[in-house]
Formats: sequence, structure tokens, C-alpha cells
Amino acid sequence: MSLVDSERRVLSGMRPSGPLHLGHYHGALKDWVKLQHSYECFFCIVDWHALTAEYDEVGRISQHVMDMAVDWLAAGVSPSSATLFIQSQVPEHAELHVLLSMICPLSWLERVPSYKEQQAQLHGKDLATYGLLGYPLLQAADILLYRAGVVPVGADQLPHIEFAREVARRFNHLYGREPDFEAKAEAAILKLGKKTATLYNSLRTAFQQQGDVEALETARALLKDRQNITLGDKERLIGYLDGGGKVLLAEPQALLCESPKLFAQDGGKPSRSSSNTIFLRDSADEVEEKIRRMPTDPTRIHRSDPGDPLHCSVWRMHQLYSSAETCDWVLQGCKSAGIGCLECKGPLIEAVQLELKPLQVRAADYQDSPDLVRRIFAEGAERARTEARETLTEVRLALGLNYR
Ligand code: TRP
Ligand code: SF4
Repeated sequence: MSLVDSERRVLSGMRPSGPLHLGHYHGALKDWVKLQHSYECFFCIVDWHALTAEYDEVGRISQHVMDMAVDWLAAGVSPSSATLFIQSQVPEHAELHVLLSMICPLSWLERVPSYKEQQAQLHGKDLATYGLLGYPLLQAADILLYRAGVVPVGADQLPHIEFAREVARRFNHLYGREPDFEAKAEAAILKLGKKTATLYNSLRTAFQQQGDVEALETARALLKDRQNITLGDKERLIGYLDGGGKVLLAEPQALLCESPKLFAQDGGKPSRSSSNTIFLRDSADEVEEKIRRMPTDPTRIHRSDPGDPLHCSVWRMHQLYSSAETCDWVLQGCKSAGIGCLECKGPLIEAVQLELKPLQVRAADYQDSPDLVRRIFAEGAERARTEARETLTEVRLALGLNYR
């Protein structure tokens, strides 16, 4: 019987693509650091996913993983609050992936937009691979393996989360029926108490007979708040509502972490080679250099030309970093040509340097102790495996793969 409270469990992953930059920080890590205090969090460096597009550059991956590990820790993701691990150190991800592959229609995979996009972007390399096609399924396995109900991701990942939900639903539909599912569900209804049971039954009927989706939602909400039934019964009652079976694999929800647009270049993915990208471990001088080089309102050619902050990425950065007062100063000064662009960038340079300083102090500590970093991630992998094995025990049982 699963005793995982999926709604309190978070999983997210990041592909190791080299040192992290401000976009990673504002679009993910800052949220993770907050989430780790109120949820049971699993954060995974997805090195197998990196292989899907970089199978011919494997020499770099271990360094990228190490860089990512250090940057996560530097950003404040804490091994005492969250479970941090590397995907390939938890081989259970592969087992669930292969089992899910048996029930995942090819057409679902071909429909995921990122597949064709990635293939188109990386022409010159053969990406008509099984690995790339299966990318979203591996991601679904990452999530479903922990029965995580909450997945913090950027908007680009929403189709992948929806895909994972569909896979979970199909799996539950196929295997979620215990032999005596209906009897158990009916028994669970009685445990709700008379009033709630009546309400449950009428909502269930409204959905099943009239397709009333609102009734379905209301019934789910009703169950969510029940304290007096076991999680197993809760899973049965949720499954019984829409005619499926017991919920074996929880359907995850995306939790949108919006990376401020200003960090998104090249259609959402900040490029790692761009000379403007500010990395978390850039020195104070590099930060200054890069902000000084940042393009401004292209129509503001001379110092005496008034500018329009709405056409300037420096302004967008001010909105993220600066006080209301400084923002006013920028707006007024820019539109009246009262300030120059370099002057305008001054407070930003300081703000970014200030923000990165504590991260860099921590990063230096971890960089000097690679063994410590490795140990943190090895321990994380052990914790993750304990959870993963529990799910797989149930999954194997549901699939009839129990030979004991
Ligand atoms: N596909 C995600 C990305 O490119 C990375 C990822 C892999 C992931 N597995 C995951 C994200 C599981 C969230 C949950 O950003
Ligand atoms: Fe951009 Fe500031 Fe220059 Fe205006 S003054 S164009 S906001 S950098």
C-alpha cells in the first residue's frame, strides 16, 4: 500500500549543460530553495537526458554534472532539506522507463512538440534516435517513480508534464484494478460517513452519466480534505470516480516557474556560449563587463536621444532587481535623456554582484571539496532509491512480475 502523499512531494530535474547562469537561478533554483522547506523535494541531475542530444560529446558530461552539483549547492539547495541525486545513479529510472514503454503509444511520443523541434535545431547530427523520441517517457519515469504530485518547471516543459499525466492515467487504467477493486471502493465509500458518502455518490453519478467535469473536480476536492480515511482508500475513491482503477502512479501537476524573459535568448533556452550570459560563478569584473555590453534601446543612439525603457532589456532587469525608487529614476531619466545608459546600468551591476556574492562564497567551498559534493549526491541517490524501490515493488506486482 502506498503511503506517499503525492501532493506534498516535489520532483524536478535539470539537464547538465555546463555552468548555470542567472536564468537558471531566477527560473528554477530560487523556487527550489523555497519549496524545499515546505515540500518533500527530490532534485535530479538528469544525465541520461543529456545523452539524448549529446551522445557524441560524452567526455563533457561528468564535468557538467559536477558544475551543476556545485551550483545547486551554492544557490542554497540543501541536502538536509531536499534529496539531491544524479539520475544514472538510480537505475530504477531505467526500469520504470522500460515498463512504461510497453504501454506508451508511439503516436503520443511523436506528438510531443519538442521532438521535432530538437531534431530541427540540431541538424547535422542524426537525432532520429530512439533515445530522443523516448525523452518525454524517460522524464515521465523520473516523475512517476517518486509519485511526485508537484513538478516545478518552466513553461517549455508543460507538454512533457501533460504527457506524464497521460502515461500515469493509462497505467492506472490498465493495472490499477485490484481483483476486488469495486468491492473495496464501495467499502471505502461507507467509511466516508453518511453525508459525505451520499455527496460522493451523487457527484460520481453526475460525472459518469452526464460527463459533469465540475462534479468530478468537486468530488476530488472533497476527498482531498478527508483525514479519516487511509491513503489507499483515498486512491481507490479517486480512481472509482472516473471509472479508472486505483491510482498506482500519481498524476503530476506542473508548478510553473517563470524565468524572466530577459534571460531567455534563442527561443527560451539561454545559450551557454553567449557573451552576455551571466554565470553564477562569474567574477565581479565579468558581471560588470557583461552588463556594460548589454544592448539598450536601439533607437537611443546618442546620449542626448531620449530612450524608451520598454524597448530595453536593461529596464527589464531593473524591474527584477531594483527598488521602486530606482525604477522611477530609470524611467524618468531614460525618457528625458537625463541619464546615460552606462549610468543606468550602474545600480544593476552592483545588485547582481551583491546577489551572487554569497553564492560564490559557497561555491568556492564546494569546489574545493569535490569529495564532499560526491558524497552528498551519493547519499541522495541512496535516499532516492529507497523511494524508487517502493514504487517499483507495487508496479511489478501490478504487472504480474512477482516471482516470490
Ligand atoms: N526535460 C527537462 C528540461 O529539459 C528536464 C527534466 C528531465 C525534468 N526529467 C525531469 C524536469 C523531470 C522535471 C521533472 O528542462
Ligand atoms: Fe535602457 Fe537605461 Fe539606456 Fe534607457 S537609459 S535605454 S533603460 S539602459
